[in-house]
Amino acid sequence: MNKLFIVANLKSNQNEIEAKNWLEEFKKIKDLGQFLDEKEVIICPSFTLLSLFSRFFKENNLPIKVGAQNVSPFSEGAYTGEVNAKQVKEFADYVLIGHSERRSNFKESDDMLLNKVKTSLEQALIPIYCVQDKDILVPEGVSILAYEPTFAIGSGNPDTPENADDVARFIKTKGNYQVLYGGSVTPKNVKSFTDKENLSGVLVGGATLDPNEFIKIIQNA
Ligand code: PGA
Repeated sequence: MNKLFIVANLKSNQNEIEAKNWLEEFKKIKDLGQFLDEKEVIICPSFTLLSLFSRFFKENNLPIKVGAQNVSPFSEGAYTGEVNAKQVKEFADYVLIGHSERRSNFKESDDMLLNKVKTSLEQALIPIYCVQDKDILVPEGVSILAYEPTFAIGSGNPDTPENADDVARFIKTKGNYQVLYGGSVTPKNVKSFTDKENLSGVLVGGATLDPNEFIKIIQNA
């Protein structure tokens, strides 16, 4: 059986002190039983915190994976300000690509996203490719998708589990994908999504900022 994916997108939050406090609190997950056995928990902090998170999980023997929220479409070289897939791979196993906040605020095009996927796969960094509706183009080599309708992101107004399941079913007719749902997931509603036949997990933003809320999401999923 495939593990359920529980992905935390911390977005542009936390400095080092705040991240250390978050991690100290989150560490209690260790004492909370077998929740982690059937779950692939992935935490995506800012680039500046990737090394801290990855070191913390190793040192504390926590079976938690690290992901980046973005990656350069180029490999290493003269691209001032970019963080490339080889650099990310030092600390992370996963990377979010195509999030709607990047598509809209940073005008990321399908071509650019295709290059981000390519350069990630070359470094064995696993893309979690975000799509906002069922018809969005998916680059070759992607196996994990996150369906995140923009109306549901940060709005407190999630899609219905039934519709998310229908969208996931449709997407899965186009390829061998695992599909996650994202958009206003909370400890209360997480199970209604993870119970659905075609959903393989969740991508969570706002509710991960409080580590205790996030722990509840992992427990309840
Ligand atoms: P949200 O964000 O859980 O705050 O709605 C999800 C996301 O943007 O990935």
